[in-house]
Amino acid sequence: MEIQLWREILAPYSQAVDELLIKFNHIIADYKNASMYSPIEAVTGRVKTISSILDKLQKKNIPMDQIVEEMDDIAGIRIMCQFVEDIYKVVEIIRSREDMEVREEKDYISNFKASGYRSYHMIINYKVNTIHGNKTIQAEIQIRTLAMNFWATIEHSLQYKYKKNIPDHVRGKLLNAANATVALDHEMSQVRDEIIDAQNSFNIKANIVADILNDIQNLYKVGNQREIAKIQDEFYQIYEKDDLELLTNFSKQLDIMAEEYKAQSI
Ligand code: GTP
Ligand code: MG
Repeated sequence: MEIQLWREILAPYSQAVDELLIKFNHIIADYKNASMYSPIEAVTGRVKTISSILDKLQKKNIPMDQIVEEMDDIAGIRIMCQFVEDIYKVVEIIRSREDMEVREEKDYISNFKASGYRSYHMIINYKVNTIHGNKTIQAEIQIRTLAMNFWATIEHSLQYKYKKNIPDHVRGKLLNAANATVALDHEMSQVRDEIIDAQNSFNIKANIVADILNDIQNLYKVGNQREIAKIQDEFYQIYEKDDLELLTNFSKQLDIMAEEYKAQSI
């Protein structure tokens, strides 16, 4: 049999996971910078271990030279969302991307598995550019709420502990817990708008404060330092009032001032 150079087999998958993590984290950052609610709460990724790959090849009777075509989860990305609605938004984002070609989708949320498992799965084709040329690999993206993730993580550990033969009484408890996460996700969706509003104002405030302090720092370099110190005191007083409108107006005034200084210095 030909020798398998695992490092070389896995390198493009590892690169794909790194790149996909950066891309999904940037989606979060883009929403935050725009003071918008991000449908993605967090993202993780992993390359399947060689031992898990060997187990799966054996179980599914896949020949070694068919790994690229037959194994769709060597590169795995997991996207966590706060609300079930966000999952479908993320699905849309992925469908519309030019760098990810969707091969397959499985909606285990509308049709959850017998175990109680819920998640939305997408298999994509993803192209990586390496020094050896371009390679298109498959990656599995699992999209789920935090509650679904909590359940799946615990259930997975139990599968491991019981070597996939979870006793009936534990199974029963897991199914109850799965139903509880369905109820939890449902309840949370009912208050989604209010939660999103609260998080948005938090983001807006954080961005305004960052802008103000940035302006103050820039002015400090070019302006009258005593005057700038006074402005900073004024900022702290306004900040304590916890009024977004006051902060916004203050920020606008500072922007104008910063522009004036810039104009003078040219
Ligand atoms: P495999 O790829 O061999 O797993 O078969 P498949 O393609 O039919 O798998 P499926 O899409 O159902 O699941 C792929 C992945 O989803 C698994 O590797 C797990 O990470 C996760 N998953 C699926 N079912 C369960 C489950 O019952 N419990 C947990 N914890 N995770 C699951
Ligand atoms: Mg699979």
